[in-house]
Formats: sequence, structure tokens, C-alpha cells
Amino acid sequence: MTDDVRYAVACIPGDGVGPEVTAVACSCVDAAAARRGFGVDWRSYPLGARHWHETGEVLPDAVLDELRTADAILLGAVGDPSVPPGILERGLLLRLRAELDLYVNLRPSKLRPGVDGAVARHRPADLDMVIVRENTEGLYAGAGGIVHRGTMMETATEESLNTRGGVERCIRYAADLAGRRSGRLTLVHKTNVLVHAGSLWLRTAEQVAADTGVQLDYAHVDAACLYLVDNPARFDVIVTDNLFGDILTDLAAALTGGLGVAPSGNLNPGRTGPSVFEPVHGSAPDIAGTGRANPAGAVLSAALMLDHLGQPEAAADLDAAVSGVLEAGAPASTGEWAKALDAALAATAVTR
Ligand code: IPM
Ligand code: MN
Repeated sequence: MTDDVRYAVACIPGDGVGPEVTAVACSCVDAAAARRGFGVDWRSYPLGARHWHETGEVLPDAVLDELRTADAILLGAVGDPSVPPGILERGLLLRLRAELDLYVNLRPSKLRPGVDGAVARHRPADLDMVIVRENTEGLYAGAGGIVHRGTMMETATEESLNTRGGVERCIRYAADLAGRRSGRLTLVHKTNVLVHAGSLWLRTAEQVAADTGVQLDYAHVDAACLYLVDNPARFDVIVTDNLFGDILTDLAAALTGGLGVAPSGNLNPGRTGPSVFEPVHGSAPDIAGTGRANPAGAVLSAALMLDHLGQPEAAADLDAAVSGVLEAGAPASTGEWAKALDAALAATAVTR
């Protein structure tokens, strides 16, 4: 077994349960790497609430420059009740998404055998989709402001920015993915009310569908919520804007076993820099340190990372290990999860 292929992976464990779940994800990656014949050089960055309290810094430019040189970044979770809302989220997570041009947020959502989703009648065959969330524009672009603060005239605006280029590159990624799956792509928006951005999204999606031959379907976001609960099988690949994607992916997580099992990849598809992989869940300060955090979402995010790095077999090993553990009945503690994943990975047959 050779070990000449090595990846430099930056790890930002972050806040709350972040360090607990990333530790498990890292050891799963190491186990799969050892079996598949490549290596990972981890570099850990202690960013997050503690670093902010100690230094007043969220993401120093020098650290960002170092992160740019990594092959990939694995992130635990950011956010802590001791830090005013938005500081860590905007300063770390959203800044990484913007600075590294991570314009696709890839969120696969799959009901795995043995998992209780929120809707009892759903079966694994009904729910296996990928939500492609635009990740750098829309209401997350940071446009807007407050005037006349503290008076009855106080006016707050939050503007949704949608560029043709930004929308098109995201839809093209989703269409490409749909082409490798069922060939079906659903655009989710709210074109009946958001007539400006909605029109741009719809016209762009129609153009991309015509170019690529994917079968394009459309649903308003409110209806999409209803369909997700009522008949998720109608979806395969969904493409949608930043905020709608944020909301839909929490709903999809609930349907597939909860936030604990939902992975995500913040992708730079052009590979002009590293992509960032993080579970959909937050820092869960209420259970941090109790040993009860579910590392499945983090491990599945690491699987997305391995796939992106060009190690699909190792990615499949992690995915299968998580499925196996879930099917046997999800462990109650992070420690038991770690042991069960370890055993599942050790049992993986390697045909090399
Ligand atoms: C997510 C999270 C983030 C988002 C927060 C923490 C800024 O909810 O990744 O879904 O809204 O994008
Ligand atoms: Mn979210």
C-alpha cells in the first residue's frame, strides 16, 4: 500500500459540540485513508468563541491566507450564547463562504434504513435527494442597513442580491448533478411574489435546462415545504436561493432523522481554493460536553470532503459505516458512535 497521496486538511473544530463531533470525523477519515492508501495531514485552527473572547479576532487575515492553501477544510460548528449573534456566524462561516467563493452549498438528504424520520410513513425509497443551495448571494450578501435607529422612524432593510452569473453557476452545478442522478431538477423560489429575483432565477433555470437537457420542474417555496412532508419522492435535485435553502435543509434534516445526521459541503466547484465541509447542525451549546452529540452529520460531511478530494471509495466507506451503525440502532453517546464507526470501518472490505 503506498502513501504518496497526501492531503493537507485544515480542521476548525469550533464551538459547542463542534470539537466532539469533528474528533470522530477526523479519526474516521484517518481510518479510511489508511485502508485506501492515502494520507491526511491535519492542521487544526482553534477559531470560535474562545478565540474571540481571548483576542477579539474572529478570522484573522493571516489565518485566512493559510486556510486558502489547504486542500480542504473540515469545520465543526460555530456560534456560542456568550458571543453576540452574528459575530461568529458572519465573521467566520459566512466570511469563509464569501472569501473562498464557496458558491454551492451541497446538502444531501437521505432517509437511511433504521432511522426514524419525522414522518412515520416515509420509507428510504421515498426520500433520497440533494438540495443545492446558492451560498454566497441572496439575503446573505449583507446588503442593507438601519437608518433612524432607536426612533419610531427606524427602518431596517435587508436586500437580496442575485446576479445572473451567481445564479447561473449554481444552477449549472445542480443541473450537472441532476444529469448524473435522475435527470430531474426542481427550482424552488417564490416567483409569484419575489418577481424580480424570481424572474431571474426562473429564466436562468429554463436556459440551463435547455442547454443541458435536464427535466426542469418548479415549486414555490411554501408549496415545496408541503411536498417535502407529503410526497418527498417528487424531488431528486432541488436548486434554490440562499435563505430558502437554509430553511428547506433544516426541514429535510428533520425528515431524515434530525440535524444530527445531516451533512453539508460548501463547495468551490472551480477548485480555485479549498471547499469547506460542515454538518448542518450548529454548536448545540445545550448538550456540549455531555457526550451526547451525534457525530453522524460530521462524519457524512467528511465523506463529502473525501469525495471532493477525489477519494470516492473512502467516501463510500464512511457513508456505509454511518448507514450500518444507524441501521443497527443509533448509539446514544458520541463515544459509542466512535467505537461503532471504528468497528464498521475496520470491517469494510477493501478491494485494491
Ligand atoms: C447553516 C447555518 C448558517 C446559515 C448559520 C449558522 C449562519 O444555519 O449552515 O445552515 O444560516 O447558513
Ligand atoms: Mn441553517
